Amino acid sequence: MGRNIMKEYERLLSNNREWAESVHSADPGFFDRLANQQRPRFLWIGCSDSRVPANQITGLMPGEVFVHRNVANVVAETDFNVLAVLQYAVDVLKVKHVIICGHYGCGGVTAALENFRHGMIDNWLSGIRALRRQHREEIDSLPADAACDRLCELNVLAQAKHAAHTTIFEDAWERGQELAIHSWIYRLDNGIINPLAPPITAPLEES
Ligand code: CO
Repeated sequence: MGRNIMKEYERLLSNNREWAESVHSADPGFFDRLANQQRPRFLWIGCSDSRVPANQITGLMPGEVFVHRNVANVVAETDFNVLAVLQYAVDVLKVKHVIICGHYGCGGVTAALENFRHGMIDNWLSGIRALRRQHREEIDSLPADAACDRLCELNVLAQAKHAAHTTIFEDAWERGQELAIHSWIYRLDNGIINPLAPPITAPLEES
C-alpha cells in the first residue's frame, strides 16, 4: 500500500477525532443522549452519489435522519433492503416524513437512457428504463441534458408512488399514522433542493 493511500484514509480518522471533540465541547451531553436512543423524524431515500450527502445538505445532525441510499434512489417493491428500511422507519421509529430525493445529472438515470450495456447495473435500473419507455414521447423530444433531467424528475415521482403503494405505507395510513412522502430533487451545481410535487399523505387512488 502506497504512502499516499495511507495518508488518505488516516485523514478520515483524524477528522473524526476533531469532529467528535468539537461536538462534545459544544454540547457535552450529545453523544450520551444519542447512545441511548435514536428518534429521527425523517427518513431519507437518496442516491448513493457522493455529492448528495443527506445530513450535510439538509443541515441535520446525527440522530435526526434515518438514511437509505442506492444507485438512482430506487424504491423497488421486490428489494428487501429498502423494504426493511421502510418498515423499520415507519413501524418502529415512526418517522413523520419520508423524503425521496433524486438529483439532476444522476449517473444511474443517465445509464438508463443510454442504449448500450453497462453491466449488472442495467438490471437494477430496469424500472427506470421502463419509465423511459413509458414517457418516450416527452423524453425523446428534449435535448440530451434536459431529457436526463426530466427522467430524473419522473424517477423521483415514480419512486414516491412505489413507496406509497407498499403495504407498509398503506397499513400505516389505515391505522391513522401521520406520514408524508416527499418528492424532492437536488441540483448539483447550486446545492438547492426543490420539491417536485405536494407531499403524499394518504393512500393513492390511481395506480
Ligand atoms: Co445519482
